[in-house]
Amino acid sequence: MSLYLVHGGKPLKGEVEISGAKNAALGIIAASIMTDETVVIHNVPMVSDIKAMLNAIASIGAFVEQSKDDPHTYTINGSRINNMIVETEQIKKIRASYYLIGALLGKYNEAQVPLPGGCDLGTRGIDQHEKGFSALGARVGISNGFISVKADRLYGTHIYFDKVSVGATINVMLAAVLAEGKTVIESAAKEPHVVDIANFLNSMGANIRGAGTDNIRITGVPKLHASEYTIIPDQIEAGTFMMAAAITGGDILVKNIIPKHMDCVTGKLREMNCRVEEYDDSIRVIAGDYIRHTNVQTHPYPGFPTDMQPLITVTLGLADGMSLVTETVFDNRFRYVDEIRNMGAKMSVTGTTININSVPNYTPANVNACDLRAGAALVIAALSAKSPRELEDSPIFDVPMCSIIEQAELVERGYEYFDEKLRALGGYIYRFENREDIAKFNIKQFA
Ligand code: EPZ
Repeated sequence: MSLYLVHGGKPLKGEVEISGAKNAALGIIAASIMTDETVVIHNVPMVSDIKAMLNAIASIGAFVEQSKDDPHTYTINGSRINNMIVETEQIKKIRASYYLIGALLGKYNEAQVPLPGGCDLGTRGIDQHEKGFSALGARVGISNGFISVKADRLYGTHIYFDKVSVGATINVMLAAVLAEGKTVIESAAKEPHVVDIANFLNSMGANIRGAGTDNIRITGVPKLHASEYTIIPDQIEAGTFMMAAAITGGDILVKNIIPKHMDCVTGKLREMNCRVEEYDDSIRVIAGDYIRHTNVQTHPYPGFPTDMQPLITVTLGLADGMSLVTETVFDNRFRYVDEIRNMGAKMSVTGTTININSVPNYTPANVNACDLRAGAALVIAALSAKSPRELEDSPIFDVPMCSIIEQAELVERGYEYFDEKLRALGGYIYRFENREDIAKFNIKQFA
């Protein structure tokens, strides 16, 4: 188990470059094996979920090569795939393993993939995926921890999703591009990475129209061809650094992003008394002299992203009054609330809403990352935390100077060079493999 050691209280200032979008890359890597020709993908983020996906496609016979000149560029060729059963240990741990079902089903009419893992955010059904594959003509079965799909042929169909699902939209899109005839997906997810994956498939010769709206129309083509493609920047990583500026009272220029994707986060930060300046491909967030309280509800895109929920919650924990944050996408994305309480937060969960009573500052504590975005939220909270020893009138003396965030590996599923990027902004954060290494660390290095 790896850990972050964080000494907070210093405003984060400077510039940060955002990496490629993890959730787009996962779908694009799966899609890249759908042609027998060679695909080159740029801006692939080097995070553990992506490595798991690259290993998985290599394990079934795909050629995968990282560029020597640019570690974010990969060459992939799926012509030698010889196994429809994906069963690496790593792939069992990630949610996006299921994109290999859509990709293999589309190309070879069959696939067998472990049931999806991923962050524990409450119930995460796959019924809409099954519904989509069945509608395209596949037989779908679940047994022994695997989902299996098989079809004599796939044919275009009309699918209405009962629930807006990013994963099901992408999966059906993958399978349908090589089906016979026209597929219409109603109530489709509109997230930027849905559009990016559609654009990538179109660059390989697919015929997808309407991605980014709730009605996607796909005309099947007989085969896909070579492509060279650059993945969009990661909207959630960008939002994380925007929140980091707000919570630490800092000033951060978040570079290499698509500001339009950030509209919701930008709007909320302005409500929260931050100055937000938008440029062509960057956004600067300058914290105000206090954080104004507000209410937030998560929704599918273009609503406020559920992935940003823990990050805005910890930031609102330091606002000037009471806030409510309501989660509408997942049924239990609140496990971190107990952890942030250890830092002095005054929050409670009622149903799907977090009631936030503000506190003037957080104090350092030992906490568990819980999941990817919760872990990032706890890191930025720790970066804002002030040790009571540094607070003149604090009645508490028996607390550490630093926070420890356990299970840093969960954060590394989706954030590239997270500690390095935060250090470049002036944050005191170091990553350790285990507690023994922390014990050997000279804490004065933080000073
Ligand atoms: C994707 O998960 C992302 N993961 C998640 O990012 C993100 O939180 C989520 O979309 C919502 O934006 C990837 O892209 C790999 P959904 P996904 O299908 O596809 C229910 C992160 O932090 N549902 O849109 O699993 C489901 O239970 C991660 O980067 C069904 O009921 O999300 C949930 O309540 C975490 N049946 C809701 O829909 C289904 O068949 C939305 O899920 C499918 C989903």
